[in-house]
Amino acid sequence: MSGDELKSAAEVFAQELRGKIEREQGGVATFFNNFLLRTIRELNQLDPTLVWKESARRIGGAEGDHLRRRLTVLRGHLAARARGRFVAYHERLPVIPEAAPWGSDIDQAALAMSQGTTDCLQWRGMPLFKTAFDMSIYPMLIWEQKPRTVIEIGSGSGASALWLADLLAMSGIDGDVYSLDIQPPDVEHPRVTFLAGDCRHIEMAFPAKSITNWPHPWLVIEDAHVNVGGVLDYFHTRLQPNDYLIVEDSLQKRKKISGFVGKHDGLYEVDTRYTDFFGRNATCAFDSIFVRR
Ligand SMILES: C[S@@+](CC[C@H](N)C(=O)[O-])C[C@H]1O[C@@H](n2cnc3c(N)ncnc32)[C@H](O)[C@@H]1O
Repeated sequence: MSGDELKSAAEVFAQELRGKIEREQGGVATFFNNFLLRTIRELNQLDPTLVWKESARRIGGAEGDHLRRRLTVLRGHLAARARGRFVAYHERLPVIPEAAPWGSDIDQAALAMSQGTTDCLQWRGMPLFKTAFDMSIYPMLIWEQKPRTVIEIGSGSGASALWLADLLAMSGIDGDVYSLDIQPPDVEHPRVTFLAGDCRHIEMAFPAKSITNWPHPWLVIEDAHVNVGGVLDYFHTRLQPNDYLIVEDSLQKRKKISGFVGKHDGLYEVDTRYTDFFGRNATCAFDSIFVRR
């Protein structure tokens, strides 16, 4: 979006946003709300005969750099809004390449640091291999989706399964967590079953006749990074509409994910409310928080 189309879209958006702040947020604006409204206000004060990109280009120094960056964020936000919440995987090309050159608004160092720097994030004193972004995304997703069954492939220290079970309990959801690992951790939780098994033989780890009766909705999380295609294929036939499928650390798994989604056209959509909650792909699950249709 650019030129006059961008200016009018920004005006409509600013009005809607002010209404949302008043009605839904009790008059409290977020940092990002203020950032966008201030950006639109400042852009509107520039020469009205020029498009914003050109006006911003003519401003020199740090001030110009800053305004161009803000304009890029605004354009990215408006474009993402226009696309809507649920998006086909193959449509998830960078909305504005200069804004998200490697597919994320978060630069690589910041994303790396979001798992912790002096230590990794912890839950109940155990290492939890999530980013700070994902630690905020999962509680919202769980609250909204209300999964009755959470299936995790790759337990790590066990902290993530315990954390997911605690989230279910804190959200008042009657659900259970099943977490598979080739070397299961030695921890316990009344809502967690740790399973010992190899996801290269996923059908043995989760035999069809045991999992058939597990109540839906399901939240399936692939985080072992082994036999990704086989794991996704196995769960595909068992997932039902409105189940969620999350592939973590997915940057290196794009080919596998793309192959999987391509086989099931229209059945998996990226839920951008979560992948993009803190900016485009501000998560370890790049374009891979899927809802099953
Ligand atoms: C990245 S860690 C999981 C982290 C955990 N989900 C978290 O968020 O804290 C990956 C786990 O996958 C397990 N794993 C590796 N190969 C596996 C296999 N073939 N079958 C099952 N688990 C495997 C490893 O033992 C390791 O614990």
